Amino acid sequence: MSDFTSDFWHLYVAGLTLVSIIACLILLWISGTTKAATHADNTTGHVWDGDLAEMNNPLPKWWVYLFIITVIFALVYGALYPTFGKFQGVLGWTSQGQHTAEVEKVEAAIAPIYAKFNGMPPEKIAADAEAMAIGERLFMNYCAQCHGSDARGAKSFPNLTDQDWLGSGDHAYIKATIGQGRVGVMPPMAAAVGGPEDVRNVANYVLSLSGSPHDAVRATQGKEKFAACAACHGADGKGMAAVGAPNLTDGIWLHGWGEEAIARAVNNGFNNQMPAQAALLNDAQINVLASYVWGMSNKTGN
Ligand code: HEC
Ligand code: HEC
Repeated sequence: MSDFTSDFWHLYVAGLTLVSIIACLILLWISGTTKAATHADNTTGHVWDGDLAEMNNPLPKWWVYLFIITVIFALVYGALYPTFGKFQGVLGWTSQGQHTAEVEKVEAAIAPIYAKFNGMPPEKIAADAEAMAIGERLFMNYCAQCHGSDARGAKSFPNLTDQDWLGSGDHAYIKATIGQGRVGVMPPMAAAVGGPEDVRNVANYVLSLSGSPHDAVRATQGKEKFAACAACHGADGKGMAAVGAPNLTDGIWLHGWGEEAIARAVNNGFNNQMPAQAALLNDAQINVLASYVWGMSNKTGN
């Protein structure tokens, strides 16, 4: 695909390239025919270090031929491949086309390896040693940088080995998450809760739900304010997979715990994103990888 928006720039670039190549030949020709004024002994008269005289000999033939070959090479290359402005070259080669062809080749090569896992139930894939070896390698390449090589995650990056999920946590959910990514959105809630004191109170109430250290008086005062949170986290705070709102009663904290961390959650909300991986992995790979991830928290045994 050409990025030129007008023919002028195409001609400008193509012309400049061609003129530069031809200029190389002209330079070669001029330097081969014009001789600098020399003394009778074929020296230029420049002498260094007492006796080091500069001779005026023609360029060696092998060097001249090499130069001519590079010019011919440039012209042939320019005729075959995109070189001159938007002229595509007679081979019609594009980097995009080469990439597509390479991807197709790889997909054709790996398809038979994955074929036997297509349509297999996740429990069976998770119990298959070969599938799990493939899953582990895919995980190390595509997931470990965010979820950790042991898949236990980090602050704001979920642990994938526990039973605690933002969504439903079944195989279809994991598959969809890998392919399409996900966005965990909680709007800033401070205005709905009240002033800064109310935010601290509701934070202590949230801590009390999991029996985490908290200020009991503040928690009692914050209980009522939790009504603003119930639409997503549920009246009992146990979360709602359908909106991706986590369980606040289990003592598992994706974004950290303590009055300060929870007040920050209420004040700022979240916009936590996992990028879609569908452009990097095909369906068959995602199927095996999802089974590998599913298997980490659903130990089946062989
Ligand atoms: C660039 C970082 C990044 C990469 C790479 C990444 N993830 Fe994620 N992943 C996240 C974040 C952040 C979340 C949490 C999103 C949210 O809060 O909704 C997440 C969420 C998930 C969830 C849902 C967890 C839950 O508790 O519901 C699954 C499953 C998951 N990732 C699997 C994977 C797999 C498998 C890969 C490799 C193909 C992967 N992720 C690659 C950042 C990443
Ligand atoms: C519109 C829905 C919605 C409302 C209303 C809402 N939340 Fe959330 N909340 C979420 C979602 C979704 C997440 C998960 C963000 C993510 O995926 O990273 C979350 C995450 C959290 C977390 C982080 C949990 C952890 O594991 O670290 C806390 C704490 C929290 N919410 C507290 C509250 C409180 C307190 C209120 C009420 C003042 C509230 N939320 C209201 C949707 C909501």
